[in-house]
Amino acid sequence: MSKSLESIRYYDNKFEVLNQLLLPQTFVYEDCSTSDLGFAAIKSMKVRGAPAIAIAAALSLASELKNLNKKLNLVDTKNYIFSKLDYLCESRPTAVNLFKMTEDMKSLMQKELIHLENNITGGEILKNLFIKKAEELLQNDISDNMAIGHFGAECFSKKEKVKILTHCNTGSLATAGYGTALGIIRTLHAQKKLERTFACETRPYNQGARLTAFELVYEKIPATLISDSMASFLMKEKGIDGVIVGADRVVANGDTANKIGTYQLAIAAHYHNIPFYVAAPTTSIDCKKKSGKEIMIEERPKKELTHINNMQIAADGIDVWNPSFDVTPAFLISGIVTEIGVIFKNEIGEYDVADFLNKKK
Ligand code: MRU
Repeated sequence: MSKSLESIRYYDNKFEVLNQLLLPQTFVYEDCSTSDLGFAAIKSMKVRGAPAIAIAAALSLASELKNLNKKLNLVDTKNYIFSKLDYLCESRPTAVNLFKMTEDMKSLMQKELIHLENNITGGEILKNLFIKKAEELLQNDISDNMAIGHFGAECFSKKEKVKILTHCNTGSLATAGYGTALGIIRTLHAQKKLERTFACETRPYNQGARLTAFELVYEKIPATLISDSMASFLMKEKGIDGVIVGADRVVANGDTANKIGTYQLAIAAHYHNIPFYVAAPTTSIDCKKKSGKEIMIEERPKKELTHINNMQIAADGIDVWNPSFDVTPAFLISGIVTEIGVIFKNEIGEYDVADFLNKKK
């Protein structure tokens, strides 16, 4: 099997991201070994996808800490890490993974602070703990995605062969490896159950055409690219067995923020009686928010719509609205596939995501 694609590469003293702005024409890794470089790579979308964003933020800071040429005391180390994490959180607002990683790291650091109070090497110990935990995120994400692949493929166990529609990019390029929605497609393919996957181009940033198509060709998975406007007709004409998408934030009632265009796919799938699954690691779940109304939706520069490859395609002076994500209401979602199992609606047709998580603890 060919080596799978990597969006992030972490070495002893160096962290690099694949510059996804240049794909599919140019395949180049760029240094991302400081929090400034990490922030810029996330904001400019050189690295993107909810899990990859969080991991890239953590590892850029981990590399910076490794290369720091001064030794800080315990409190200064804690303050340094906290302020850099807060800064990294300013990069993109919708995917919860970054905020969750920050919160988890901060609470771990805070706990350790008490134990290390009188330790003269406390600063170094705290720093090394952060680095270790950041490194663990890489491996955990890959194993989570493989479990998502397994649980997601089970949702189609009654079918012999399936045709799956997907949106945006949720594969190796959006995660530490394997992918979430694309991980399920990959598993179905490995199980010889995938007849074909259809990938929406995902305007305006074209993650589907530029990145998912690239991954599917690279992995030799049977795939067809469509424009977003063809999705309903595809469902009507091609006998689609399921739509599987990723998530940037799944909230307590199951409402899910994902790449713009996801909502209209869910509506079309509902109309055509096609199951619509969300694939999301638990790091993409935010039970602090009760419903999708509370999710902050990132708005991206208007140039993403008016230009393609720096060539202007829209009339000068036109007003532009460019929300990068939308929210799919929970009732349109057939199941939320996580690494610990699939969340389904309860007997009254509602999701209780927190209850599912609690029962799995
Ligand atoms: O703007 P992007 O490219 O970061 O958006 C990515 C998506 O919306 C993905 O579907 C989501 O992050 C899940 S990636 C496993």
